[in-house]
Amino acid sequence: MIAASASAKIILLGEHAVVYGVPAIAIPVSDLRVYATVKPEPSGKGLCIAAEDLNQVLPVQVDAEQVDNALLLTVKLVLARLHVSPPDATIAIRSQIPPASGLGSGAAVSTALGRALCMMLDQPLSREDLNAIIYEVEKVHHGTPSGIDNTVIVYEQPVYYVRDQAIQTFSVGAPLHLLIADTGKGALTKVAVGAVRELVTQEPERINPILDSIRVLVIQARSAIETGDTRTLGRLMNANHMYLRELTVSSDELDQLVDAAQNAGALGAKLSGGGRGGNMIALVTPETCETVEQALITAGAVRVIRTTLEEESA
Ligand code: MEV
Repeated sequence: MIAASASAKIILLGEHAVVYGVPAIAIPVSDLRVYATVKPEPSGKGLCIAAEDLNQVLPVQVDAEQVDNALLLTVKLVLARLHVSPPDATIAIRSQIPPASGLGSGAAVSTALGRALCMMLDQPLSREDLNAIIYEVEKVHHGTPSGIDNTVIVYEQPVYYVRDQAIQTFSVGAPLHLLIADTGKGALTKVAVGAVRELVTQEPERINPILDSIRVLVIQARSAIETGDTRTLGRLMNANHMYLRELTVSSDELDQLVDAAQNAGALGAKLSGGGRGGNMIALVTPETCETVEQALITAGAVRVIRTTLEEESA
């Protein structure tokens, strides 16, 4: 059995602003994954993608000119890059990552699918090549993606990401204990990114200083992570959430969860990813973790995941 997988991701700071060249910090969530398994089929059967969670079976037609389905586009770009025809196989996709929730589900599905196809063909792609392909596919999901989601997911490592620059990682001076809480409301990143673009175009005098402030706080956050100053990091996360509210990408549900986490003793809390729904993150300590988790559930979180970025993991 050929099987491949890809992780979820969360953005610690800098989402949305990253589209405009501001740095952002993101980490993989390796416990939440998408799995792709390949079943070889008899000759002449062709290639099919079975999206099990969606109850969908998609036959692959590589000669189609316009491909606006992300799964089919992934297959088409991988086959074109390898200069091969589709194999006779069914690739089944199963995801643990809720879609439209800021956890990178789209990029993770495409990455797992691309990896499984390469394994089936016995032609591995470099991470750079796979990342470039998944970035093209992300344009279907996001319109004008910065590239942060595909990068953190394909490399599956913490990144300090600046658009169009070589990937940088960072050291971690003290473990970061995080809670990821789901509002249960899906929201399309493409819509939120489009709304911010409209603000940037229509009100540059008001919005550019906000983007500059986010730039400063992300740079400060990187050194807080490196020196293990989690109190400062928490304060910067709170400030980042306020700026994201001004960019109109928060929601009542996200604000409620952020308030609940802050009031229950989190060091910091903010929405994460595209916003307007989806997930928020809270920075906690082993001592406050339980209380903050309970507060998030009481405030309406439909699911809370714990994840830790360990000192040695970067
Ligand atoms: C989505 O996970 C992150 C955004 O900054 C969009 C992007 O960077 O492409 C909202």
